[in-house]
Amino acid sequence: MAEKRGNVIVGQSGGPTAVINSSLVGVYKTARDRGAGKVYGMLHGIQGLLEEKYVDLSEHIRSDLDIELLKRTPSSFLGSCRYKLPEYSDKPEVYERIFEILNKLEIEFFFYIGGNDSMDTIKKLYDYGQTIGSRIHFMGVPKTIDNDLAVTDHTPGYGSAAKYIGAITKEIIRDGLVYDTRNVTIVEIMGRNAGWLTGAAALASCEDCEGPDMIFLPEVDFDMDSFLGKVAKLQEKKKSIVIAVSEGIHMSDGTYVCELTDNVSQIDSFGHRTLTGAASYLSNKVASTFGCKSRAIEVSTLQRCAAHLSSRVDITEAFQVGGAAVKEAFEGANGMMITLKRVSDDPYICVTDIYDVHKIANVEKKVPREWINDTADYVMPQFISYIKPLIQAELTAIMTDGLPRHLVLNLK
Ligand code: F6P
Repeated sequence: MAEKRGNVIVGQSGGPTAVINSSLVGVYKTARDRGAGKVYGMLHGIQGLLEEKYVDLSEHIRSDLDIELLKRTPSSFLGSCRYKLPEYSDKPEVYERIFEILNKLEIEFFFYIGGNDSMDTIKKLYDYGQTIGSRIHFMGVPKTIDNDLAVTDHTPGYGSAAKYIGAITKEIIRDGLVYDTRNVTIVEIMGRNAGWLTGAAALASCEDCEGPDMIFLPEVDFDMDSFLGKVAKLQEKKKSIVIAVSEGIHMSDGTYVCELTDNVSQIDSFGHRTLTGAASYLSNKVASTFGCKSRAIEVSTLQRCAAHLSSRVDITEAFQVGGAAVKEAFEGANGMMITLKRVSDDPYICVTDIYDVHKIANVEKKVPREWINDTADYVMPQFISYIKPLIQAELTAIMTDGLPRHLVLNLK
């Protein structure tokens, strides 16, 4: 019999992924197995908690089948938010309210599954908790398709999104080859100011596919004239050209390429602009400059929740970081985030570790310059060696009536 522990609450925050619910069940199952009292789930993260929106997870995850379904269910089961906690000095009442709710629920362990913005929440709650002598443990569980969290080797969610990008890039290339006419396809991939996911387009370069012709990451300034010059050169050699661009590519003055469109600009509470439209802008530019057929593919939210093509390595690690967060918190950790530490590439071995969340919150980890080629239009072999182990193996979907089955919670 596990020693009796206090109550637990877990939330999901930021953009969803294909495997974020695997981390949720990692927290839930490990907490139950290790003697937790109640395990609550906050609805729509900290924003929902402030409105006292939460559920008792045992009423919604009732069997081993539910756990297996949840591991295969994309997006955030509990709903999510993009809510930036104000500074304590600006709005102390927000903190007082959160702790009032946590104390009412007799919470001793608080887990938040998210990216660098979400770690800002853990950091602030931990800091405030220290000032009032709270005994609640605050732990971050990493997640983001952007793979831009500091310290950790990679983030759960990235491997599955990368596998999807590699697979669809192969399919887009095949499609482009079908006509014997000149055509350019520009694929826009998420990742904000980090090119980790866009670089995954290079996975399409394999035995049966030559891969994309160029890849542009936001780590290096984008130069329009040089881009058009490269397209012209490629067109001298081949008819079908496929180019991957990050949603966050920008010129040397900092202007995002997507800002050159007339899209309505939307900004979230962390000050992040919705980056959308770079491929569409470049595709029009190519069509008008070269008079050839050109198409933009904005992969958009498809790449975040493509659970039908998840990486088993990713699902497994997502579960492990959730479980490790509970184990560490129950053993006394506080104000920390679980990290993944790669021990070797071949065979791929990765273990969990913990790190001070203050050094992770709000920091964006970029692709190292030496992992991008000199002409800044492709990734280097080191990038491929890094990413390959993360996309390996599959977890078969549980199918109903020809489609993947999901476990869903009515969030209304
Ligand atoms: O979660 C990360 C991310 O998917 C980024 O790649 C993207 O820029 C952003 O979220 C989009 O956010 P939202 O869903 O709030 O529009």
